Amino acid sequence: METVKKSSFDFFADYAIYGREVLIFATVLLFVRWILLSQWSYSSKSKTLAPPLPYPPGLPFFGNMFSFRTDMRDILRKWTNDLGGLFRLRIGPFVDLVVISDVDAIQEAFVDQANAFSERDIPPLLEVAMGTKGSIFWEPGHKWKQLRRFGHRALRHFGLNQGSMEDSIIEEGRLMAEAFEMKEGTQFNPKVLVTNTVGNVITRFVFGFRFEYGDPVFEKLAEDFEHFFESFSVTSLGSVFPFLYYTPLYTNFRRPIQNVVSYIKSVVNDHRRSFDPLHLRDVIDLHMAEVKGQRDENKMAAMEEGWEWKFIFELYSAGLATTTDTLRWAILIAAQHPQLVHEVQKEIDDVIGGRSPKFSDQSLMPLTGATMLEITRIRPVVPLGVPRCTSRDAVVQGYHIPKNTTVLMNLWELQTSPKYWKEPEKFNPYRFLSEDRKTIVSHRALNPFGIGLRVCLGEKLARMQLFIILTSLLQRFTLRLADDSLSVGMEGKAGIAYGPLDYNIVLEKRHV
Ligand code: HEM
Repeated sequence: METVKKSSFDFFADYAIYGREVLIFATVLLFVRWILLSQWSYSSKSKTLAPPLPYPPGLPFFGNMFSFRTDMRDILRKWTNDLGGLFRLRIGPFVDLVVISDVDAIQEAFVDQANAFSERDIPPLLEVAMGTKGSIFWEPGHKWKQLRRFGHRALRHFGLNQGSMEDSIIEEGRLMAEAFEMKEGTQFNPKVLVTNTVGNVITRFVFGFRFEYGDPVFEKLAEDFEHFFESFSVTSLGSVFPFLYYTPLYTNFRRPIQNVVSYIKSVVNDHRRSFDPLHLRDVIDLHMAEVKGQRDENKMAAMEEGWEWKFIFELYSAGLATTTDTLRWAILIAAQHPQLVHEVQKEIDDVIGGRSPKFSDQSLMPLTGATMLEITRIRPVVPLGVPRCTSRDAVVQGYHIPKNTTVLMNLWELQTSPKYWKEPEKFNPYRFLSEDRKTIVSHRALNPFGIGLRVCLGEKLARMQLFIILTSLLQRFTLRLADDSLSVGMEGKAGIAYGPLDYNIVLEKRHV
């Protein structure tokens, strides 16, 4: 049978026929918006105020959506300066969201009223793409708690605390340093090797195997994740019209998701065939074992057979770009600050010498520890956190925030505002050291992994990777930027994670 290929003109013509339906749909949307926003006008009649909106208020219907263009952070800083540490935005016709950029307000909301601020609100485009079922990020209330407990159990079971996970990070750090060594004398972009290394830490945990460098299967997986991360934005048109997911406009978002899910499902199916309850190899097996146990006890409804892939997908989404981009910032910063690296290397030589680094070494290495903190401060890779949602009406700093409001934690502002940091754009690890430079001093505006009940599940795993992988590199090499990358600065690229622009480095081997 002959198939007729439609032109993009035909595609839009098809939609034009439905003009009347679209008009009715838009009217319904506006009505729903009016109902939703009435909760805010209710608040202004009560004793507490609704948080302020920017002025001018943005476009009718679209609100502040187009104010963001490619990067939200500058405009958010302007609004924070104009309106204070807690304000409201309109994104399209339905959504009023609250942005909190003040350290006391963050404490008051996410810690003091943790139960009211610990739901999440799935961005509409993601909801159409993935749904909330089986999701540690987006399942509500008790189902989230079950998945979160499962996440902690999985991390414990596969050795986050007893060493076996640390052993695999040490091995990956060593293999990465060896792969770097092969590049000595050339200039290269470290991104592929770093992605492969971080990817392997997650892959060992979830799939029970690792990918060799250059394995085309991993390259495709990493590329698909990258496209998915890059083309997702909570302020894109798809957030207002999520059905656009099914149109050519979102092919670059839809296709990578489909590829990744299909690959993960194929690995899960292999596991199902070889599953042995007495020998659990990885997170997939543990998930299967718990679901089988659940049949007997019938109480763990959040985990179902056939949904293992969702948990795996989310661990990759949460851990791959974030940790890779933090390490890419770290390498860039190391190449820009030779004197500091020299001092860190002295600490590495004194405490670790020529053996492999262990996470516990960090307690004896204050400058290295402070450098890690400063890296996560100066460029938070999740600058606006992961959206939260209120489960009841709440009051923060005198402002009324109704139930079901999306709330963003503005980590960027917290970590780079002159309100909290002296010379915030200066890379200065010493700000985290005591006067005698022997102990690390924490700072309440530093929360790169979020805060409260929903704080990052993988925080310890991520910190372990950052320390072990970076010290493995600096132990063996001194890095500098290649001539073609000398102008690369601290400007990043927005996406699911905020990473540096591409750059090339050159290595010089150290003799330890
Ligand atoms: C440098 C690396 C990382 C950074 C900066 C980071 C940051 C974050 C942030 C800001 C949140 C939101 C927390 C909140 O709402 O308060 C989060 C959530 C989460 N992260 Fe990470 N993350 C990193 C690595 C990882 C890794 C390696 C994993 C696991 C493999 C992971 C798993 C998760 C999960 C599952 C959540 C959702 C927790 C929940 O909703 O209960 N993250 N992360």
